[in-house]
Amino acid sequence: MRKSSVYDCNVIPLSKVHNRAGNITIVEGENNVPFQVKRIYYLYDIPSGEVRGGHAHKILYQLVIATSGSFDVQLDDGVNKRIVRLNRPDFGLLIVPGIWRELFEFSSGSVCLVLASTKYDEADYIRDYSEYQLYKGKLL
Ligand code: TYD
Repeated sequence: MRKSSVYDCNVIPLSKVHNRAGNITIVEGENNVPFQVKRIYYLYDIPSGEVRGGHAHKILYQLVIATSGSFDVQLDDGVNKRIVRLNRPDFGLLIVPGIWRELFEFSSGSVCLVLASTKYDEADYIRDYSEYQLYKGKLL
């Protein structure tokens, strides 16, 4: 996915079962999201003004959900940038491989849930922006 674009990343509506006792949202791998979910993690207790992310992945697909509160995700494919605000637990942002992302503007008490297509593998990360540009073929 060297050539993936920010426009390959979409906000996906998730199912929502509503009744007077509250709501439930269900996410099923390969059904609501176009990958098998191998790992789940969540960011919480994020101090005001903090920025998370600042990396890209080579093969990892992710679905990012603001299960509580709100935050912004900046997507960057080396050419185009998009900022997506997430503030609803029944929508998820699909991030395809090869996209540099930063998460910021976390509201107090927000929780960022991430469903991921592979187990943790540091070798899948590109954490240096110059290296990322090389990977995308921008400096070749
Ligand atoms: P990182 O993915 O860089 O966090 P973020 O993008 O939210 O800023 O991960 C932060 C640290 O946590 C890093 O040292 C690796 C570790 N980590 C794991 O050990 N397993 C995981 O599944 C994840 C997502 C991170």
